[in-house]
Amino acid sequence: MVVIAVTGKGGTGKTVISALLIHFLSRNYNLLAVDADPDSNLPEALGVKPRKTLGEVREVFQESRDEMGTMNKEQWLEGKIYSEAITEADNFDLLVMGRPEGEGCYCFANSLLRGVLRKLMRHYDVIVIDTEAGLEHFSRGTIGGADYVVVVTDMSKKGLSTAKRIKELSSELKLNFKKIFLVGNRMMNGMDEEIRKFSDEEGIELLDLLPYNEEIVKLDIKGEPVVLIDENSEYAKKVKKIATRLVGDSNG
Ligand SMILES: Nc1ncnc2c1ncn2[C@@H]1O[C@H](COP(=O)(O)OP(=O)(O)OP(=O)(O)O)[C@@H](O)[C@H]1O
Ligand SMILES: [Mg+2]
Repeated sequence: MVVIAVTGKGGTGKTVISALLIHFLSRNYNLLAVDADPDSNLPEALGVKPRKTLGEVREVFQESRDEMGTMNKEQWLEGKIYSEAITEADNFDLLVMGRPEGEGCYCFANSLLRGVLRKLMRHYDVIVIDTEAGLEHFSRGTIGGADYVVVVTDMSKKGLSTAKRIKELSSELKLNFKKIFLVGNRMMNGMDEEIRKFSDEEGIELLDLLPYNEEIVKLDIKGEPVVLIDENSEYAKKVKKIATRLVGDSNG
């Protein structure tokens, strides 16, 4: 199993890159896509209509747990997640985490969920997680861990400082990722230097620099999924290469 988490500053292209990684990798691997951004939009990028979020299932559990009596609550949660939260797309499954819980004590629900999620994840070869920059699900332990973290940055200082903070955060919290990579996105010609320098100085290996792509903008404005992008475009080819690199890396 290879777990890839895509993170970075808001608006840098995490969802676009996650969706394309999922699109290409799901042709060769049994894949679970996870939308771990509370402001979820991975399903739209993939062109998939999502079912319930994990958060919604947790709410139902919270409301009905007193009436469950001696029923095995972990089994109940597992069943509910499969029957109501996992969306089966053509080539992959999708799980949307949803918003964090409200007031009250969710410790029991969350500790059961952790177990169920770990078990569920083991059914897949590859898991791609579109997440926010705070790595919330990893710091809380909802999602057990990731092998590779791909930090997406654009050509902004803020994008780079977020990348640096993610690296620091992951060592502070001892998240034990195998490796943190950097990807530059929406690049303009001749603007690579700063990002290359940053990658060297901070020791965050640069996977690639992805160009600004007009088709992505057009698909977005038309409300069409980004996975319809021309596969022969430089952009798609570069993401395919990243996909092979990440999953290939785990085997050797
Ligand atoms: N290489 C690119 N060229 C042109 N537009 C792009 C490119 N990458 C992403 N975009 C556009 O930039 C916007 C932000 O991309 P995306 O939603 O993937 O970022 P995000 O990091 O997931 O954002 P959020 O933090 O809101 O989840 C979208 O409108 C997307 O279509
Ligand atoms: Mg996003």
